[in-house]
Amino acid sequence: MKIAPSILSADFANLERDVQFVEQHGADYIHIDVMDGQFVPNITFGPNVVKALRPVTKLPLDVHLMIVDPERYIEAFADAGADIIGIHVEATNHIHRALQMIKNKEVKAEIVLNPGTSIEAIKPVLSMVDQVLVMTVNPGFGGQSFIEATLEKIQALAQIKQEKGYHYDIQVDGGIVPQTAKLCKEAGANVFVAGSYIYDADHPEERIQALKEALK
Ligand code: DX5
Ligand code: ZN
Repeated sequence: MKIAPSILSADFANLERDVQFVEQHGADYIHIDVMDGQFVPNITFGPNVVKALRPVTKLPLDVHLMIVDPERYIEAFADAGADIIGIHVEATNHIHRALQMIKNKEVKAEIVLNPGTSIEAIKPVLSMVDQVLVMTVNPGFGGQSFIEATLEKIQALAQIKQEKGYHYDIQVDGGIVPQTAKLCKEAGANVFVAGSYIYDADHPEERIQALKEALK
């Protein structure tokens, strides 16, 4: 079980401090939400932020691209130091090619699906991905409520993984708190993104511990 704090809810004026804090307190990945104001209504970070964070942490940088036609920026994020690059199946007409571009850069390739997207849309590429991200809220903002209907998709992806012998991790993102993390774990998820639950707390280290406890 891995915990990936999302810096979307960190203090943008103190990103180095906030990344190092969660690293010291047991985080497994740093989740970086890249938003373009088109695929989602919000705007956040570009490759320069990934590049700036690369030397300040040893943790894998898990880059979640919420941008239209992500293939335009795969090389830039890979060169900036991303360890995992996630692209939405809804964001490109050429998902297979885009995932291949990530793999060609020797970065872990992740496919992401929105709450309203069926897993049928990603079945043809499941054999080639390292991680599947099941969005458990509609992407764009931190602090939204977990959508329970997504649990069925996690279960189905866990079953396909077992039946076909695939190796992907199943990540969940959005509305993750101990109770929802537990539901996702029971459904088959093993990587848990949490933004506001961790960073909006007075003691984020206690929140990381509480998630770990819930996932035991
Ligand atoms: C939403 C982002 C999430 C966000 C989660 O578009 O993909 O990573 O940071 O925030 P919480 O954990 O607050 O729901
Ligand atoms: Zn995210």
